[in-house]
Amino acid sequence: MTNLWSGRFESSPDQVVFEFGASFRVDRRLFEDDVTGSAAWARALAKAGVLGRDEARQIDAALGDILERGRSDPAFVDGPDEDVHSFVERLLVERLGDAGRRLHTGRSRNEQVSVDLRLYLRRRIPLLQRAVEASVAALARQAAEAGDALMPSYTHLRPAQPILVAHFFLAHVAALRRDHDRFDAACAEADALPLGSGAIAGTSYEIDVEQLARDLGFSRSVTNSIDASSDRDFASTFLYACAMTMVHLSRLAEDLIIFCGDEHHFFDLSDALSTGSSMMPQKKNPDPLELVRGKAGRALGHLVALLTTLKGLPSGYNKDLQEDKSAVFDAEDTLAGSLAAVRSVIDGLTLNRQRAEAAASGLLLATDVADYLVGRGVPFRRAHEIVGALVRRLVAEGRDFGSLTMEEWRTASDRFDADVVSHVASRASVAAKRTPQSTAPDAVAAALAAVGEWLARAGSTG
Ligand code: ARG
Repeated sequence: MTNLWSGRFESSPDQVVFEFGASFRVDRRLFEDDVTGSAAWARALAKAGVLGRDEARQIDAALGDILERGRSDPAFVDGPDEDVHSFVERLLVERLGDAGRRLHTGRSRNEQVSVDLRLYLRRRIPLLQRAVEASVAALARQAAEAGDALMPSYTHLRPAQPILVAHFFLAHVAALRRDHDRFDAACAEADALPLGSGAIAGTSYEIDVEQLARDLGFSRSVTNSIDASSDRDFASTFLYACAMTMVHLSRLAEDLIIFCGDEHHFFDLSDALSTGSSMMPQKKNPDPLELVRGKAGRALGHLVALLTTLKGLPSGYNKDLQEDKSAVFDAEDTLAGSLAAVRSVIDGLTLNRQRAEAAASGLLLATDVADYLVGRGVPFRRAHEIVGALVRRLVAEGRDFGSLTMEEWRTASDRFDADVVSHVASRASVAAKRTPQSTAPDAVAAALAAVGEWLARAGSTG
């Protein structure tokens, strides 16, 4: 068996170790990008006078044919080759002989794998962003449908204050929009052409890297060939963006697992997206949400795995870097699958308005009672104490603010007047909020409108 470097050795590679080192099964996913990068390299070599115009045209046509065949039949991208780069080169040599053998002039697989992965990510990141937008749109639809419905918010998973249901959905939108920005950052980081770096020291041929960068859709070229040969910052940033998005999807999943459960039951999951139990007939389990939560760990693992691989590497290419692609591809698949599942779950949610609103009243209004006293000139700390004592008593008696007589209010503080009753209500609590990021109905309506505009913009640029 021969391979790309067999000239250097007397014996053929050990089969077991060859298979251990081979990456074709994983990096075949870079097939299209490897062909794209190779075709551009051939054009650059022709411009540098290394390849004749004719040879360059032959290479271009043969690569076009190889690409076509690989696209129409994925099984075509297969063979005993070490990796996708060797595969494409083998096919080219089989078709063209020496012209094919000239393609690798001045080029190393070290930069080739980097350019391929950069091209791949720049092609695929926008697809993940479209999927993030679809989840944002689903959350925004739920927010719009919820209208003025109320639910409790929680801190420490204990009832905190009433909020609009729409505000809850838009909270998850805010996180996903940051994730969307993170993918822009990953795309921008991948936007540099590494070709021209050679194996580590650069290339001795007159390659116009600026023109080659433009040819491949990059806005710039790397600045240092040593750095470029082992720079995987762009892949790490991508994995960070995936990990962070999975963290957000996991937290959304956890919220919904709790809020759809029998104890809260603010929402119902659609039957089609739930699973039953083989033994307990009453069960309706949120499996897709649990899986999203579970898969988040996997995406986080990929980020840590790559950073760990990178931290001990001496300068220049090292084979350890080959591990980057399984991390990147699996993080991508995990995120794409999770986004699709989350989007379906969100689309299938129904709100139990009565149940959610009932949970949003009672002692959750304690802060509003304190704010009422502040409005009457009582210092907040003092107001907190008065209301705290009142709450203690109500808890002991199994009552809430609504059951207090005017006399009882007055006993707690002579600042309470008859209008306290209208202040101490869930809807009034929500309406009393004053800041743009709050749950005040006007603020939430404005936030929802802003999400609509963002979606329209994201959709038109994507
Ligand atoms: N399969 C290799 C990788 O993914 C390609 C680069 C190989 N370079 C080398 N010098 N062995 O990293």
